[in-house]
Amino acid sequence: MCGIIGYVGTGKTADILMRSLKLLEYRGYDSSGVAFCCGKNTEIYKCTDRVSVLEKKIQGRAEGSHCAIGHTRWATHGSVSEKNAHPHRSGRVTLVHNGIIENYKELIQLYHLKEKLVSTGDSEVAAALIDRFYDDDPLKAIREASKQIRGTYALVMMFEGREDEIFAVCKVSPIVIAQNEEGRILASDLSALTGTYENYFVLPEDTIVRLSMDDLCLYDLSGKKKAPYWKKMEQQDRALDKKGHPYYMEKEIFEQGTALRNTLEPRIREGLPDFSADGIEGELFASHHHIVICACGTSYHAGLLAKRVFESFGRIKCDVFLSSEFIYEKPFMEKDALIIVISQSGETIDSLQALKIAKEEGHETLAIVNVRDSSIARNADYVLYTHAGMEIAVASTKAYTSQLSLLYLLAYRFALCEQERKEKVMEKIRELKKVPDAIEAACRDKERYAGLAGILKDEKDLYMIGRGRDYPLLMEAALKMKEISYIHCEAYAAGELKHGPIALIEKDTPVIACISQEDLLGKAASNIKEVRARGARVYAFVRESLAKQLDMKIEVFPLKDLEDELMPFSAIAAFQLLAYYTALEKGVDVDKPRNLAKVVTVE
Ligand code: F6R
Repeated sequence: MCGIIGYVGTGKTADILMRSLKLLEYRGYDSSGVAFCCGKNTEIYKCTDRVSVLEKKIQGRAEGSHCAIGHTRWATHGSVSEKNAHPHRSGRVTLVHNGIIENYKELIQLYHLKEKLVSTGDSEVAAALIDRFYDDDPLKAIREASKQIRGTYALVMMFEGREDEIFAVCKVSPIVIAQNEEGRILASDLSALTGTYENYFVLPEDTIVRLSMDDLCLYDLSGKKKAPYWKKMEQQDRALDKKGHPYYMEKEIFEQGTALRNTLEPRIREGLPDFSADGIEGELFASHHHIVICACGTSYHAGLLAKRVFESFGRIKCDVFLSSEFIYEKPFMEKDALIIVISQSGETIDSLQALKIAKEEGHETLAIVNVRDSSIARNADYVLYTHAGMEIAVASTKAYTSQLSLLYLLAYRFALCEQERKEKVMEKIRELKKVPDAIEAACRDKERYAGLAGILKDEKDLYMIGRGRDYPLLMEAALKMKEISYIHCEAYAAGELKHGPIALIEKDTPVIACISQEDLLGKAASNIKEVRARGARVYAFVRESLAKQLDMKIEVFPLKDLEDELMPFSAIAAFQLLAYYTALEKGVDVDKPRNLAKVVTVE
């Protein structure tokens, strides 16, 4: 969470900073701020608003500056206010921070910093502490402070009296750095590195970097110089163009067909799954007999659905954990368990920690991530990238379906470990290839969902019921609905209704029923009757080929036909659109729902 940026160079500093901050805004958008080095002075501008408002505020300012740092905030400690917004200035140090300083209260006491602080958060404490240690040697001050600070941090600093120089240090929270003839830039992630950079490197933990107009130096915490490990910058899909869609979320829903094709096609050879281009050979599949999936939010929901495919078709035992609970559950894992961590951003701290724990316990790890070279990708033994392209809307859509498609493909690959399943796997792959078209067809039906959104927009509570694969699918549908439309929406396994939730149903309670699995039609229809008998207003999302068999006077939304196992793909497209149009009807900022951020780097 929080996006940070720093630039030193001859380019248009303010423009570079604003462009990068807009690209980082998805990490947090409670407030934003910049500090420009202007000769001997530092000019700071902040606002408790979006970067576009900050941009207006700085127009015509700091025009001759060649060095600046910036921040876009997701509040952890301290309310959303200008004084809590970054950059923080304390004495001769100006700083931006991403992460959490756990022992900030102790540091205030120990170093008598209280008088120096104006904000109520943890970040300003880092600035005050570094200033306490500063006697014209920034490296020494940062070194001393790093030894005292406990927690996660990416700190970027400017020091009074040191013109056109930026320093940075990090622990867990990432910093990437690039340079070209014009200058040097650092940021929380690669998406913010606008400009023509051919190479970049990831700042190693416990390493200090100094960027100036003419060079770039790395030091470890004992003061010894280090060499950066440069990597080639891949073509970045910055996807800032909404391509005619009012919101990124709509664009990203519509991009799902392409995202899935890009994710699947390079991994299908001669009709069979093949991960050798990802560096994953057959032994990996033969040597594991237990899969443990760790993930959060939408990525966790992808795991829940995948479990059913791993076990029913892949014939491999699979357990799924919320990364944040994995640590406490201390699950039993077979010695040869393969840990799969799923994460769009590749930065979710809980998932990163789950991965590190699994590695410490000696397990092999595989990451499924969308963002290249993200922390989870770097820490895993194997990486499978979803080629969904950059996902900007906070609500995940194309990343989810891309994750799911890769997980299905993995399950099919595990199935090949058993003799004589080649033909069956080939058949599965042929069906899987139909998914992108089915999602695109669902998108063409958007008017239907927009119509229902108009009816649902004022509801306070909404229930979703389904059986089998429809249940984990609806958990994702309900999450989409609540996070962007703010309607309280819960998914229930339809068979569980009678064990409690049906008490919530009264006259006119809206219920969405999903029936995508052929063999569950009869039972699911009974559940619809049960809630209708108690007054519920039911909307049924039913697989097209089954719709006629559902002989009831209720509104039916047909779902594009795919084979049973793949129906969640066409269903989720419908539910994503329903959530999107409901949020649109309510007039909320669909791409930036309240209290959320795209990258969750705090526990
Ligand atoms: C919801 C959503 C979140 C994320 C969760 C994990 O639409 O996007 O629930 O899925 O924060 O994020 P990643 O996948 O980046 O680890």
